[in-house]
Amino acid sequence: MTQPTDPLAPSADPTTSSPATAVSSRKAMSLKKALSLKKALFRPRLRHLLPVLVVAGVGSFGLLSAVLPGGAAAAGTSAAAGTTTTTKPSTTKPSTTKPSTTKPSTTKPSTTKPSTTKDPITYSTPKLVPEGASLFQINCSSCHGPTGGGSSVAPNLHGLGAATIDFWISTGRMPLANFATQATEKPSRFNRQQTLAIVSYVVSQGPNYGPGIPHVNLKHANLADGESQFVLNCAACHTITGAGDTLADGAYAPSLHVATATQVAEAIRTGPGNMPRFGQGQLSDQQVADIVAYVTKEIQHPNDAGGLGLGGVGPVAEGFVALLIGVGGMMLIAFWLGERA
Ligand code: HEC
Ligand code: HEC
Repeated sequence: MTQPTDPLAPSADPTTSSPATAVSSRKAMSLKKALSLKKALFRPRLRHLLPVLVVAGVGSFGLLSAVLPGGAAAAGTSAAAGTTTTTKPSTTKPSTTKPSTTKPSTTKPSTTKPSTTKDPITYSTPKLVPEGASLFQINCSSCHGPTGGGSSVAPNLHGLGAATIDFWISTGRMPLANFATQATEKPSRFNRQQTLAIVSYVVSQGPNYGPGIPHVNLKHANLADGESQFVLNCAACHTITGAGDTLADGAYAPSLHVATATQVAEAIRTGPGNMPRFGQGQLSDQQVADIVAYVTKEIQHPNDAGGLGLGGVGPVAEGFVALLIGVGGMMLIAFWLGERA
């Protein structure tokens, strides 16, 4: 009975057909089983389960994708954990930036405190040259030359200004660890005092064209303006959630979840690496302060009061939730209508 139904079995040769028919009959059996399973699935009662299964499938897929990039987006936890483990030490930094502005004023009257009452940003240059000179010799001169004038492997640091030097040291980019890649942010090797000392030394080596270290006064910052300026000027590279993104030629815009207020202002005013520099002509001090407030408050500490927060997992996972509710709901309605027809 198997021979006529089996297209593979050569019916002309009965001796060789026996193993072939055994295989083909097994095939037929499994086909029958599959058919009966299909029938069972479309039996009216089980049919009710189908939309539920689809919804559960889409839902679990959405949840899975929410969990994976979610960690990266939410407060930069896993993004920071993946590249560096800076979250813990650097989140404590913002609190130390305030007192540190008083530190240089105790050693030298840099008088940043009195003027910060009204100005959105004040710029200062620390003066701790002797301590910085020896730190520079030990940690930087091997690449940047004995006084920071540059070498065949590293650029000239003269004239860059205090903000640039401070940014590269305080974000851990310098001393450079790996020539092959873009200098990455990592826990800084130096405390605030040492950082300011190195900055002082480099800046003392000649005239400076770059800005001093910005001290941002967030008291009168406008979060709404900060958000619109961020969307206009920063989101293209750093994404709307500040999670960061890859750029052309292997470069990347890092996550903004660990930078301090000073570092954000420094990045804006000095334009590190592939980032453009935003001068006073493009963004006023007040606009920079607004952006800094938006980054350090809304992006780094999102409160989910407006709209569905979904744990700050970002637009992709939110899209899956929309899929789950939208497509799942429509399928439920379609099956319900089909049942009544
Ligand atoms: C192993 C070599 C090396 C060491 C050590 C090193 N640097 Fe660098 N530095 C570089 C290189 C290479 C670049 C360019 C990297 C880039 O643009 O991404 C650079 C860039 C910089 C820049 C940015 C320059 C610019 O034009 O924007 C600053 C500021 C800087 N270094 C300061 C320092 C300081 C301060 C130290 C010591 C604490 C230091 N570096 C130690 C190799 C080094
Ligand atoms: C053209 C793309 C681009 C734009 C636009 C841009 N950035 Fe960047 N940003 C970068 C890149 C690239 C880096 C890393 C530079 C490096 O390390 O060499 C960076 C670094 C930073 C950092 C340092 C983060 C850290 O923790 O080390 C901050 C803060 C930052 N950007 C803030 C901003 C802000 C605020 C704006 C808008 C005013 C902005 N950026 C606009 C590309 C961009």
